[in-house]
Amino acid sequence: MKKFLSLIIVLILMVTLLSGCGVSSEDELDYRVLVNKLNQLPDNWEKIINTVTFTNSVGDDVEVETKAYNAYMNLKSELEKEGIYVDLDSARRSVETQQQIMDAFIEEYGEEYARKTVAKPGYSEHHTGLALDLYLIIDGKDVYENEDMIVYTDIWAKIHELLPKYGFILRYLEGKEHITGYGYEPWHIRYIDDTELAQTIMEKGWTWEEALWEEEKPEVSIDYGISKIYSEEDLREAAIQIKCDFAAWEGCELHSLRYAGDESNSEENIKWVNLKTDGVNNYTQVAEFIGDFHSPVEGGSAWDADEEYTEYQWWLARAEDGGWEIVGSGY
Ligand code: DAL
Ligand code: ZN
Repeated sequence: MKKFLSLIIVLILMVTLLSGCGVSSEDELDYRVLVNKLNQLPDNWEKIINTVTFTNSVGDDVEVETKAYNAYMNLKSELEKEGIYVDLDSARRSVETQQQIMDAFIEEYGEEYARKTVAKPGYSEHHTGLALDLYLIIDGKDVYENEDMIVYTDIWAKIHELLPKYGFILRYLEGKEHITGYGYEPWHIRYIDDTELAQTIMEKGWTWEEALWEEEKPEVSIDYGISKIYSEEDLREAAIQIKCDFAAWEGCELHSLRYAGDESNSEENIKWVNLKTDGVNNYTQVAEFIGDFHSPVEGGSAWDADEEYTEYQWWLARAEDGGWEIVGSGY
């Protein structure tokens, strides 16, 4: 009987180990995922995410990725010790919910404001379950409308100071709209599961796009050329956009970038970028950059393996008072 029992235990162990071996990194949640205007939620996300759902103080159900939820609960209890009370307005959202939010914003504020405030369905960090929108409870009253919450700058400053300790960063920073594509949101926090990196990011005032770029730190030679239209600062901001976007091109290595010249800002190109984006952004300026990069040794869905791509083009556009946006890239 004892022998039989040992055999069963060995068999159970083997099955457990073998099934464990089948778990690849693709089956694990990537807490460093970048979801922004250019990068959609990864395909396998829905299959591998674990979530917790709870009811907030206004009676809405909120779903959060499990690790992010535990970190949030710890943050919340430390804040309460300081007399700051918060709750979650929204965390994980389906594509359908994001569409409803977008529709409601367009109806209330118009298309241009909605696009600067709400992500396109499929491209919202909220789909990940790692992005959390806080609201404040002040003197027992729920304060959750954006315009009402934003005035509590001292409270937000205290909240932001504690974020890295629990693995969170602030995602949509003031003055970084040209990188994130969205206005300042003191309530939108993002779990990255790395307290040390979160601390660095918050100290340096980086967006997640910049942090991913800085972590890789490849040597890129950038030639801003000569321009009669743009200052070097304008072109540097455009190059940052490309670098930040490039940071999400897994395994690719960017070698060089050069400004293609003022001819790219032609009337025809301005018309083209506006047509490409249904005219909603009112772009008035265009800039083209050309670059060389290397694809991953093992290849990737969009690239041939281990290949040097040269003379690759990036097209950027901006409106009168807006930051650069990448409107296209390729040959
Ligand atoms: N408000 C952020 C950008 C979102 O809709 O995901
Ligand atoms: Zn949000």
